[in-house]
Amino acid sequence: MAESMKGLKRSHRCTEVSNKNIGEEVTVMGWVQKRRNLGSLIFIDLRDRSGILQLLFNEDEIGAEGYKKAGLLRSEFVIAATGIVNKRGGEVNESLKTGDIEVVVKSLRILSESETPPFPIEENSQTKDELRLKYRYLDLRRPDLQRNLILRSQTTTLIRQFLTEEGFLEIETPMLGKSTPEGARTYLVPSRVHPGNFYALPQSPQLYKQLLMCSGYDRYFQIARCFRDEDLRADRQPEFTQVDMELSFVDIDDVIDVNERLLARIFKELVGVDVPLPIQRMTWQEAMDRFGSDKPDTRFGMELVDVTEVVKGCGFGVFTGAIEAGGSVRGLNVKGQAAMPRKKIDALVEFAKGIGAKGLAYLCINDDGTYKSSFAKFMTDDELKALVEKMQGQPGDLLLFAADKTLMVYTVLGGLRIEIANKLDLIDKSKFNFLWVTEFPLLEYSEEEGRYVAMHHPFTMPMDEDLELLDSNPGAVRAKAYDIVLNGTELGGGSIRIHQNDVQEKMFEVLGFTKEDAYERFGFLLNAFKYGVPPHAGLAYGLDRLVMLMVQAESIRDVIAFPKVKDASCLMTDAPNVVEQTQLDELGIRIEKMEETNE
Ligand code: AMO
Ligand code: AMP
Repeated sequence: MAESMKGLKRSHRCTEVSNKNIGEEVTVMGWVQKRRNLGSLIFIDLRDRSGILQLLFNEDEIGAEGYKKAGLLRSEFVIAATGIVNKRGGEVNESLKTGDIEVVVKSLRILSESETPPFPIEENSQTKDELRLKYRYLDLRRPDLQRNLILRSQTTTLIRQFLTEEGFLEIETPMLGKSTPEGARTYLVPSRVHPGNFYALPQSPQLYKQLLMCSGYDRYFQIARCFRDEDLRADRQPEFTQVDMELSFVDIDDVIDVNERLLARIFKELVGVDVPLPIQRMTWQEAMDRFGSDKPDTRFGMELVDVTEVVKGCGFGVFTGAIEAGGSVRGLNVKGQAAMPRKKIDALVEFAKGIGAKGLAYLCINDDGTYKSSFAKFMTDDELKALVEKMQGQPGDLLLFAADKTLMVYTVLGGLRIEIANKLDLIDKSKFNFLWVTEFPLLEYSEEEGRYVAMHHPFTMPMDEDLELLDSNPGAVRAKAYDIVLNGTELGGGSIRIHQNDVQEKMFEVLGFTKEDAYERFGFLLNAFKYGVPPHAGLAYGLDRLVMLMVQAESIRDVIAFPKVKDASCLMTDAPNVVEQTQLDELGIRIEKMEETNE
């Protein structure tokens, strides 16, 4: 018996009512959080997106009929209640914004009834993810998710305001376009009008924003939906949002400056965190050497130590073998953990193997100065002493070593560093450590493809002093690229772009494109560069990641209204799904029956 809104107008959201309104009549609407019957009184906790307000029903005020109706209320019924604000009769509830008041209801309408929800709508739900996502519309009623989405909305509002003040124009670019390579697979959309042809959903607006610079728009931004068909993780979704920007007539410092001020403003205004400026900068090489990661978490120490020189001539074949093969040996000093049980050390070894290590050598420095180690027997006392000294090992410390190709050593120790910090609770969660990582390698060698691929994207400018290496030693060329990192997460990235046709053509050549290929795919950009193009640069943030870190959520799913799960499906709508044969016919698409695989 859903009643209508006829003649009703909401006067306040639940927590907009306060003790300033005592004695006034208010009309509130929302969901029943909880009902308590106390004989002649009924209490309802009413919930809307602002929070909770207590309603009190007594027969004297509302009459027999109304009181009976109040008795019918169940969790998640949607109601409208009009009544007088009173000081709370019972105890003040300190945990509620409206904990010192209640509304004594004079009239009640049931706007909509509810079946018993499949899980309780409450803060910090213990409900399984699958169930939450299947009923996402109910999950989204939970206060923590509502707070996250409200903060997300405030964030985009503030970004729009700040960038507009800074002279940026918000310009939309197509969703149906041509593929931009950002390193992931592209989602394709078949064209009905051009059978056999496909649009690509944008992995980012990269090429369009560069063209907007060619067209003189000077400073562009967009809160842009991007699509990448890649493996999902806690900080990755197939469809996500970038705060994307591009600027003309600028160098790295200009891009960094405006972005530092943007970040400082967002964090101060929206989460009350001071971001001291300027934000620390570190080259990629330094980040890798010290933290084994291009997105280092600088909230704790435990930095990598290069011991290659010290163990070069030692008797441990694992170490010397790696060095002779051109690799290195590096270690971590886990302070005060020499007594870590063997089982836990073995778990660390397994973790290291899981991320690609061939093994992990360890050495515990006992309190009496003796060692317990997986490799001490292969080394002389002097060699061990030198190694421990280099690691600044003290009695009580646990030393871990990886020997391999240097990039693998970084990966292994960088990964272990985070794993150990999490296990030992070494991270101060109240810190917000921002860091710019600069001078990334321009290219990385893809064993899979047997060629170099762009580390950022193919439109990134090499560093001036490395330009001549493009032919002779492409792997050594550094890029004018920068990432902004927060607490070990890559929040955003960007670069100075190539704006000279010859350099861009050269870049495509190094990436293995023939000139024809390059023009076939990116001719519109190369041609645009023939008609006067300003030097330009830009950056894009992952908005989802930004908000995730602001609210300290575990997963970006918690800041996206309707996220997808690991296999890129939506548990609520069951997308993706099979479509009608007529739709396929229209598109000229025939589905070859796929064999079920056990992969
Ligand atoms: P990049 O590929 O580094 O750069 O992407 C920019 C930022 O977008 C976020 N991001 C993601 N967030 C959620 N799910 C994903 N699958 C995902 N992939 C990326 C990250 C990342 O830092 N066009 C360039 C930017 C530029 O050069 O201006 C680009 O897209 O936070
Ligand atoms: P092994 O002689 O292969 O039994 O290895 C002796 C010790 O070295 C064991 O603790 C291994 O886990 C460790 N180890 C093996 N390969 C590596 C490696 N690449 N880096 C570091 N330690 C390793």
